[in-house]
Amino acid sequence: MQAKVLSSGIHHSSIPQSYIRPESERPRLSQVSACDDVPIIDLSSPDRPLIVQKVGQACKSYGFFQVINHGVNLEAVKKMSEVAYEFFGLSVEEKMKLYSEDPSKTVRLSTSFNINKEKVHNWRDYLRLHCYPLDTYVPQWPSNPPSFKDTVSNYCVEVRELGFRIQEFISESLGLHKDYIKNVLGDQGQHMAVNYYPPCPEPELTFGLPGHTDPNALTILLQDVNVSGLQVLKQGNWVAIKPQPDAFVINIGDQIQALSNGIYMSVWHRAVVNSEKPRLSVASFLCPQDEALISPAKPLTEDGRGAIYRGFTYTEYYKKFWSRDLQKDMSCLELFKNE
Ligand code: OGA
Ligand code: NI
Repeated sequence: MQAKVLSSGIHHSSIPQSYIRPESERPRLSQVSACDDVPIIDLSSPDRPLIVQKVGQACKSYGFFQVINHGVNLEAVKKMSEVAYEFFGLSVEEKMKLYSEDPSKTVRLSTSFNINKEKVHNWRDYLRLHCYPLDTYVPQWPSNPPSFKDTVSNYCVEVRELGFRIQEFISESLGLHKDYIKNVLGDQGQHMAVNYYPPCPEPELTFGLPGHTDPNALTILLQDVNVSGLQVLKQGNWVAIKPQPDAFVINIGDQIQALSNGIYMSVWHRAVVNSEKPRLSVASFLCPQDEALISPAKPLTEDGRGAIYRGFTYTEYYKKFWSRDLQKDMSCLELFKNE
């Protein structure tokens, strides 16, 4: 099979035409400033009401925050990054065995975003894995590097626990019972995107991932500590999120925006590339069970606005998401608004 991935060992001195964004959609990197007030929440604080308050504040005003002292074993995190780099360092022949452009595949290596639906491609390769239940999916995962399955399963278990704790804080911060989100989402699915952004000769012309909101409930992102690239939209401006050692970036996805009746924001974010170093990120997505019915929580619809979104199942939502390109101006959730 032809090498369709970017991490193929081929050196590009300019980017192919199909990656070049129209003038109006380019990243304008010189206009992006560093975000100087990223909320950083210490989860080891014994003051739970304070954590809840900070989470609520961050979700309302930014839709994202970072957590430190989060309880995920730091050695497990380090191993996760190492094995991810090792994977992308494998020969292109080895990697192409896992290549697929079909979003319904539970294990696949792919490139860009949705190569068959998009007009312009993105400077990214990614390995996408379903991770829950582990017993079902691990046998399909890559067996090269040899430590991949163990390292990644271990990481997935820990990150899932962290996600559940954060969902409790989010529920409470909305004035709901701490198990509200957990109960509505059912037996949550878990997916992972291991994103690899090779050095790009013309980072001003393209994206690693263009602006988007995540379609799931909650995203736990491990950023490369040495190479930045994540930017979020804050009050209409893109700001760069400097990697913080031993932290995870947490962002609210569309499902929590819907559940919260729009009180919390599924944050717009994007990944930009650079000309010098490859960048890696590991995104873990917690998703509602397929048949979970997502609708705004009743107590949050009683302020006179009513429910701003109609009820839908996650299956319905997810199909809609993957039937489109990532759109810079409209979240998929807009399609589920009540009149
Ligand atoms: C994603 C994502 C950002 C990054 O995978 O959905 O937004 O920094 N990744 O790689
Ligand atoms: Ni994302």
